[in-house]
Amino acid sequence: MRTIEIFDTTLRDGEQSPGVNISMNEKVEIALQLEKLGVTRIEAGFAAASPGDQKSVAEIARRVKNSTIVTLARSTKDDMDKAYEALRHAQNACLHVFIATSPIHRQYKLRMTKEQVLERAVEAVKYAKKYFAEVQFSAEDAGRTEIPFLAEVVEAVIKAGATTINLPDTVGYMTPKEYGNLFREMMLRVPGIEKVRLSCHCHDDLGMAVANSLAAIEAGATQVEGTINGIGERAGNAALEEVALALETRKDYYQATTALNLKEIARTSQLVSRLTGMIVPGNKAVVGANAFAHESGIHQDGVLKEASTYEIIRPETVGFKSNKLVLGKHSGRHAFKEKLVELGYHLEQQEIDTAFTAFKVLCDKKKEISDDDILALVDAKIVPAAESYRLESVQLSYGNLSMPTASVRLVRADGTICEEAACGNGSVDSIYKAIDRATGEDVTLADYKIISVTQGQDALGEVFVRLQQGEITVTGRGVSTDVLEASAIAYVRAINKIVERRGESMPLAVN
Ligand code: KIV
Ligand code: ZN
Repeated sequence: MRTIEIFDTTLRDGEQSPGVNISMNEKVEIALQLEKLGVTRIEAGFAAASPGDQKSVAEIARRVKNSTIVTLARSTKDDMDKAYEALRHAQNACLHVFIATSPIHRQYKLRMTKEQVLERAVEAVKYAKKYFAEVQFSAEDAGRTEIPFLAEVVEAVIKAGATTINLPDTVGYMTPKEYGNLFREMMLRVPGIEKVRLSCHCHDDLGMAVANSLAAIEAGATQVEGTINGIGERAGNAALEEVALALETRKDYYQATTALNLKEIARTSQLVSRLTGMIVPGNKAVVGANAFAHESGIHQDGVLKEASTYEIIRPETVGFKSNKLVLGKHSGRHAFKEKLVELGYHLEQQEIDTAFTAFKVLCDKKKEISDDDILALVDAKIVPAAESYRLESVQLSYGNLSMPTASVRLVRADGTICEEAACGNGSVDSIYKAIDRATGEDVTLADYKIISVTQGQDALGEVFVRLQQGEITVTGRGVSTDVLEASAIAYVRAINKIVERRGESMPLAVN
């Protein structure tokens, strides 16, 4: 039985999903969860993309101890120098250097000949080796590259010191048979390839990313790359939880497994969904809300008699628990703290106090409090961005024949109060206009999503917003039993992030 190494790129390729923009603290939270999941390598970002990305990679490298931290770099010295800066404090580091090899990319994107691409790839790997023992080389668009040229490049970069070779299907064009053959061809043609890690990296444009990854593993790949929930550029990347469960469930066929702690899958998926705002579809394999739900009477009868009749994966295997009642209004601080530890949080005392206060407020509004409620509440209350504004109150006047009017009261970090009112096209619009006036911020609402955390009339509503101001894009989340309050909280949080991004410790006074 082979153990396939897992390379997670949720924070790099995943963050390239349209509309996804995660703050540094949120990235660290995801990285720590990936470490708990048992991922071998975490691609923490593209350090050269911006000073913010470089800072996030460096912070993840400082905090994560048990997974190797990777950052991406183009084949330029400048990118690699920035990558080195970001990774210098990592316990285990790997530089991921790439250049496109396919004729389309050579001709139209790089305007380079085959010889120039080969030379640049070798130079880059040699330069990277000065800094890093572990160097991964990716031949971007390998899937559409001429096999003999690809083999030539792979052989040359291995000689230059690459320790991992990645052959991405960058545009999700290949079929499983073709992608498997690509790996077989390289193994036949490239001397020395057996000494390096061989990695697959698939995109889902034709819905074949997971099937292609599994085909590569069958053909001999020793590492698989992908993202949690399959998020990523365009149609996304291979969903790692699906690859892992396919290997686990069909060990008999693949004769391969992973070292993942599968019970952390549900929690990781929920965290990534919550922080990116990319909602997991109900019918998504392994982690969708319906993945273990049985609707038809015949199926229900079968599962009650023997689960394996219609269930090939047990929900507990990936960490789903029934939404049992856990705590209520009589629960004390101690029980709450224990619950936080059970759910995987390691919070500072001040954060526990904040979460406990929010929990008590929730107990007054909601009779039954489940694990999911606590997860949503804690994730929303432990505010990563500096709080330039805090929402103190929001009031709304609504009638189906009149324009909704909202008034809000915000407290600025220096204790001053800003109060404003505004009319809008709808309730949420009027609240947002009032907040804009109170803060003096000029922002564009680029996305607004609302979901119910649990079921029932008193369920918590979770709102996710994406705001833009010039070049700055931020996200904000808010959770409450009242969706309008959740909407206001999410918006204020996003504005706090904008202020933080502009580098202001305090917002400019309005009025
Ligand atoms: O899809 C791709 O080719 C990539 C590379 C940069 C590895 O993400
Ligand atoms: Zn990719």
